[in-house]
Amino acid sequence: MPDLSSRPRARFLRLAETHRPPLALRIDGESATALTGDTLLVALLTHGRRVRDSEFGDGPRAGFCLMGACQDCWVWTPDGDRLRACSTVVEAGMSVLTRPPPAHWPATPDLTQSLARKAAREEAGNTMEPGVSA
Ligand code: FES
Repeated sequence: MPDLSSRPRARFLRLAETHRPPLALRIDGESATALTGDTLLVALLTHGRRVRDSEFGDGPRAGFCLMGACQDCWVWTPDGDRLRACSTVVEAGMSVLTRPPPAHWPATPDLTQSLARKAAREEAGNTMEPGVSA
């Protein structure tokens, strides 16, 4: 079993429907598990604290409307396609990226600065997102 002690707690905790069959997927290249019928947003927030990094550099995002209206939950496939996490059902073997793939979506200066701040926090041993308490 992997050591998750250094990983921030997930934002979502599954309390019901735990009997659904598991599905394997990859999130930012790491193996992850969702349950059949989960949306990508549920898979991402049961795996970590954020859905994605905003391409406009205003930090981590966790979705807002959760019903396909606000566009706060875009994630990417490795091929550069965008998926709306709250309205996309996880499929077995799916691979998603929570940051725009550079070959398809060049990082804006704001995103570059946001990612540099995140890397500095992680290097300092602070894995918590700003404004997020443990
Ligand atoms: S959270 Fe609003 S569109 Fe997905």
